[in-house]
Amino acid sequence: MSNNQIGIIGTGNVGGALRRGLERARQSVRAAGEDKAEVRAVAEWADIVILAVPFGALPDVAATIAPLVKGKTIVDVTNALTEDMKLAVGYTTSGAEELQKLLPTAHVVKAFNTQFAQHMDSGRLGEDRLTVFAAGDDAKAKRAVMDLASGIGFDVVDAGPLANARLIEPLGYLNIQLGYVLGLGTEIGLALRRRRTA
Ligand SMILES: NC(=O)c1ccc[n+]([C@@H]2O[C@H](COP(=O)([O-])OP(=O)(O)OC[C@H]3O[C@@H](n4cnc5c(N)ncnc54)[C@H](OP(=O)(O)O)[C@@H]3O)[C@@H](O)[C@H]2O)c1
Repeated sequence: MSNNQIGIIGTGNVGGALRRGLERARQSVRAAGEDKAEVRAVAEWADIVILAVPFGALPDVAATIAPLVKGKTIVDVTNALTEDMKLAVGYTTSGAEELQKLLPTAHVVKAFNTQFAQHMDSGRLGEDRLTVFAAGDDAKAKRAVMDLASGIGFDVVDAGPLANARLIEPLGYLNIQLGYVLGLGTEIGLALRRRRTA
């Protein structure tokens, strides 16, 4: 895997886990929290910017970084939920497509949102590899994000254009429902089973 400069905005559960996983995969990582000067500095430095912030914070973060991310890859890991944990958008658009509208010169890729943070530094649940679904319209940007996820340890599936975030976001919501509402807990993860042909 090539060495990228990866900026992570958000230093919480997901930001921290992806940082650990990516540093283990020998990527250069810088992270920023809510400090706007730090957010700008990280976005300017990075080739790939991961937005690991609450869905509701995306417009604010997008406005802060928009002038700095022309041609760069943006990874949207958010679950597009309202504060009372309902799907915020869906079917005719997605959080990721709305983010792309806010960052028109960047290449947004939806990824990682279907897994719980505690599995994001290894891509595994015990011995099982979990699946990251990656959706995006720019082939090079999506390839770069898929390589990052593989480097962490995930099984990675190209899930098509960014519009398929309309499907991936509800899948993340299903994971949350199963884990937090329906009693399965967070020691679960989604994996696509495939028959491998030689
Ligand atoms: N947790 C999971 O298992 C999981 C799994 C898949 C996807 N996700 C998604 O990943 C995202 C992050 O989740 P998380 O669990 O890591 O949340 P978290 O632990 O609450 O961390 C969120 C981070 O975002 C920062 N932040 C909030 N508003 C910001 C702003 N305007 N500018 C810059 N940074 C800001 C917070 O800073 P402060 O601490 O200073 O407020 C914090 O560092 C969410 O969209 C969530 O839906 C989470």
